[in-house]
Amino acid sequence: MSVLNWNEPNEQPTTLVLTQPDAGDLAGPDPTGLGDIARGAARVRVDDKAMINCRADVNQLLPLKYRWAWEKYLSGCNNHWMPTEISMQADIALWKSPNGLTEDERRAIKRNLGFFAASESLVANNIVLAIYRHLTNPECRQYLLRQAFEEAVHTHTFQYIVESLGLDEGELFNMYREVPSITDKASWALKYTQHLSDPTFSTGATDTDQSFLRDLIAFYVVFEGMWFYTGFAQILSLGRRNKMVGIAEQYQYILRDESIHLNFGIDVINQIKAENPYLWTAGFQDEVRGMLRSAAELEAAYGRDTMPNGFLGLSAAQCEQYMHFIANRRCAQLGLEAVFAVTENPFPWMSEAMDLKKEKNFFETRVIEYQNGGSLAWD
Ligand SMILES: [Fe+2]
Ligand SMILES: [Fe+2]
Repeated sequence: MSVLNWNEPNEQPTTLVLTQPDAGDLAGPDPTGLGDIARGAARVRVDDKAMINCRADVNQLLPLKYRWAWEKYLSGCNNHWMPTEISMQADIALWKSPNGLTEDERRAIKRNLGFFAASESLVANNIVLAIYRHLTNPECRQYLLRQAFEEAVHTHTFQYIVESLGLDEGELFNMYREVPSITDKASWALKYTQHLSDPTFSTGATDTDQSFLRDLIAFYVVFEGMWFYTGFAQILSLGRRNKMVGIAEQYQYILRDESIHLNFGIDVINQIKAENPYLWTAGFQDEVRGMLRSAAELEAAYGRDTMPNGFLGLSAAQCEQYMHFIANRRCAQLGLEAVFAVTENPFPWMSEAMDLKKEKNFFETRVIEYQNGGSLAWD
């Protein structure tokens, strides 16, 4: 019987395929939400929703299925901030003072800023041009829209810092192309997003669904969940010693945002795994562990580039150890075996942020230790 036979009024129209279709099945509305409107189609039920390859109407936020995604959206909104709310006066005075900072500190700060300045854009591009289209759930998309704005705020932060300190904007914003250890990281991540942004790419087959998972892992787990953390440690270490306190304060806000980005990514990946267990093969798990291992090695090279002599109690060797510690932690969050030998966290003062389970206001108890004046307001 044809589902389009409207001469049978008791027949429920079932042209909407509300459950996950077979791989390659292109029937039903376009999962991007850009297809024709299915007039009079059945309403979406909560069980119709799925993370990927969902044919339910992606424009219906309610009923919520993934409350964790909605909660992260609310947390992100509650954490709203703008970089221009933070005074840069102390940083400007220190930066312009001939003896305010050592050459090692200046190099580390500039390369750190240069890495982040471009990385925020790369992450935003990945959300908007690759991830959003293929994540077929409205509450997750709602969070992605919030995250995309936060990445814009983060990019704004680096513009504000460059302008405040009078830095060479060309040098900072081209560092991702001109400093090899930064280029290596950016190009490593880009290869995972490039084919997803291909207009002919679509999920729905095992290999393409795994490509989507690789992209999520490269950007959420590696880029935002591993590589950003060395950068946070560098700048927060300066802040703890009352140097570049404005930038350190901005990095605290960025870290607060990024911890939610990371946790959202982990939840998305684990939810896709739960709904599509056939994707998470032993071979694929080995591949993901290899990704995390190579990412840690790239980060070790970046540590040597930014801190050839170390500074303020930080060294490239410690940063490498820190990456091993974090890579193992990310493996555990994904349900994978560790990739490195068990190691101590060399930056125990970062562990509170790392280990924190709750997703907002987590700096409240620590921030006063290195931010005299308590200018942060966590309303
Ligand atoms: Fe960011
Ligand atoms: Fe982020």
